[in-house]
Amino acid sequence: MKLAIIGGSGLGRIDGLQESRRETVTTPYGEPSAPLQHGILGNLEIMFLPRHGEGHTLPPHRINYRANIAALKQAGVTHVVAVAAVGGITQAMIPQALVVPDQIIDYTYGREHTFFDGRDGNVTHVDFTYPYSDALRYDLVAAARCADIDVIDGGCYGCTQGPRLETAAEIARMERDGCDLVGMTGMPEAALAREAGLEYACLAVVVNRAAGKAEGVVSMAEIDANLVAGMEKVRKVLGVLAAL
Ligand code: HPA
Repeated sequence: MKLAIIGGSGLGRIDGLQESRRETVTTPYGEPSAPLQHGILGNLEIMFLPRHGEGHTLPPHRINYRANIAALKQAGVTHVVAVAAVGGITQAMIPQALVVPDQIIDYTYGREHTFFDGRDGNVTHVDFTYPYSDALRYDLVAAARCADIDVIDGGCYGCTQGPRLETAAEIARMERDGCDLVGMTGMPEAALAREAGLEYACLAVVVNRAAGKAEGVVSMAEIDANLVAGMEKVRKVLGVLAAL
């Protein structure tokens, strides 16, 4: 297994990663968000890619998801853990909860979302019934439990376009649709990973109650505070995962 971690908001770097080199990669789809960071975490050689760029400069709809996944594939990656900060919709999804979702609903639009765009004259469809790798999900849940960190095994991640947060009515609709979590970067990343044949799972951190799910409006200060505390837990889980 060759593991890559895609870091989301609040995880622009991984403490404990002994970085050996940075690799600037170009792909047929353009540049990934940042150079690939190669290093050792625990017992594992891993790669790290900050999804929003090194200085957190790329909003969710401007991330080149195709270049990110293609760069990891080119570098020989087989497994991807995607770390994501999300809003919590259903009751259990409280701030600082860690969740390993098992389903996705895609509400994004206008993103370059496939490697199979038909330009080569081929029409290719991939199965996406279960959008995440069961084996990697299992490892993430096991790593959290091993680190004595509560984790919710399963949940539906609804991916919105952003960068604005949602209205209360949009969140109510997403809840009726069956979403437990809301984020802005889960798609098309997961689908591209599937198209590329990568084992892919998400480790989500709830950083706020979604719009309309708590008193008043969503507070960015609250998000920032929960991000810091939540990513601390994520680092521990990743450390154990790499040592499993
Ligand atoms: N909505 C969408 N994306 C998010 C949220 C949210 O409430 N919180 C963190 N990422």
